[in-house]
Formats: sequence, C-alpha cells, structure tokens
Amino acid sequence: MRAFVNGAVVEESSAQLKLFDHGFTVGDGVFETIALRNGAPQALTRHVARLARSAARLGLPRVEVDALCSAVRETVHANPPVAWGAVRITYSSGPGPMGSARGDGGPTTVVAVRETKRPDLLAEVITVPWPRNERGALAGVKTTSYAENALALADAHRQGASEAIFANTRGELCEGSGSNIFLVLNGELLTPPLSSGCLAGVSRGLLIERCGLDVVERDIPSEMLYLADEAFLTSATRDVQPIRSVDGRALATCPGRITERAAARYGQVMADDPDPAAVDAYSR
Ligand SMILES: Cc1ncc(COP(=O)(O)O)c(C=O)c1O
Repeated sequence: MRAFVNGAVVEESSAQLKLFDHGFTVGDGVFETIALRNGAPQALTRHVARLARSAARLGLPRVEVDALCSAVRETVHANPPVAWGAVRITYSSGPGPMGSARGDGGPTTVVAVRETKRPDLLAEVITVPWPRNERGALAGVKTTSYAENALALADAHRQGASEAIFANTRGELCEGSGSNIFLVLNGELLTPPLSSGCLAGVSRGLLIERCGLDVVERDIPSEMLYLADEAFLTSATRDVQPIRSVDGRALATCPGRITERAAARYGQVMADDPDPAAVDAYSR
C-alpha cells in the first residue's frame, strides 16, 4: 500500500519516521479514522475539521483543512480500490527530545489506507471501572494517547464483548472506547452531552443534526444503561450498531424500533451526501 508521509505519497515499505517522534514516544498527537466505502471517504471534511480542533486543543501547529483533505483523496487514489475500509490520519508534534518537552522540527503527518472487516450486526458491551476524566486536558480530544481505550477494549474482548463503556468521574454515562452511546428510556432517545467528557463523534453529530430524530443530550446516571429499552453505538466504522447486552444482561429489545429508525436514516443521510458540510453546533 502507499501512504502520505510529510508531504509526499510513498510506498509504505520505504516510508520513514523518526525514532523519537513524540507521537510514538509520548503519545503527543491526534488522529482520525474515516470510513472508506466504495472508494469514497465518508464525512471527510468533518473528520479533518475535528482533527484541526483536536490539534488546536493540544497546541500543535495549525492544520490546513483543505490541504489535508486533498492529501487524503490523493492517498486513496494512489492505492488499489477499497470497497470497505478506513483512512487513518495521524498528526503528531513531530520528532522531539527524550522527555516530554516538544522539539522544534515541525509536525509529522501520515495518511494511510486499510481494508477493514465489516462491523458485527450487534454489539455486546461491558462497562469498565476506570472513569473518563471530563475535566482532564484531553477530554473530548481525539489524541494518540489512547492506551486507556486499548486497555478497556482488550478487557471487553477478554469477556467476549466488542466494546467497553466508560462512565465519567461523576458516575454518568460517557462513551465507548471508540464510539458514542445512545439509549432509549421511557420512549426518549438520550445521549450524554459533550460536557460528559465524550468525544464529539462525527457520526453522533450527524445523527443528532441530520436524521430528524428527537435526540435529548442529557446527563445519564451510568446504571440507567441496564434499564434501557434499547441502546446503540455510533462511530465512523460501526455506523449505528444496536447493543444486545450490557455486562452479559440482555436489553429489553434489540434492535428496537427507534434504533432501526436511526440506522435507516443515518444510512440515507450518508448515501445522499457522503461529505455533509461541517457545522460547529455538535463539536467543541
Ligand atoms: C473515544 C471515542 N468516542 C467516540 C468515537 C466516535 O467518533 P466518530 O463518530 O467520529 O467515529 C470515537 C471514534 O473512534 C472514539 O475514539
């Protein structure tokens, strides 16, 4: 495969990164995973705009959104057609010294493409005991410091589940290791607000904004998840994925009526326009 590395598309086998790139040594960087369907990156502009916001939150050099969107398209076209896959953008603070202080060599930018397996039709999720810190410097930032998510997801896999759900320090529902969460309680479709510390998911934003569903953003005590009539996850790679069970306990319905409606409308929105214009309302 070919990848975009610091300004040029090269064979991955000959691509070079510095050993002391801070993205590698201290997780000082940001990233995006963008679904690739029949050769078309989905919601590309929104993802790159979020990368730019994440970079700004970390004080990294400004991301040129148009130039990076072009780099993504160039990388996709430089590779064999991918029917179902993902584009990964990684943007780090670049090579640095051995400690945490940043270097001054300029940022590192990598865009790579992979085929991926299709998501499972349903998700079994577990809850994890480690809280998301909604007041932390990295809350809501899609940073490469993802070891906490990797650990939680490994725990989910060990228990035969496919996603791990975090509460925040206040005991409110927050998000999955790589997804946002929605639930239906007493007929209302609820999702945690961005103040819960969750990532402003691109799929979450599209669902709230474009799908004509009455989504209520509200703090939700985490134990309410067990009582949900239905629940689902959203992410670029899962789209809308119904949740079948939480910690081994089956939810009342799966997929429920509202989940099915959300999935159908989300699919239609993306089919109508694979790159819906970015708005700020559902981002931070
Ligand atoms: C922690 C976290 N929350 C939510 C999401 C969902 O975001 P998106 O819909 O933009 O894929 C992701 C995506 O990977 C994530 O890593």
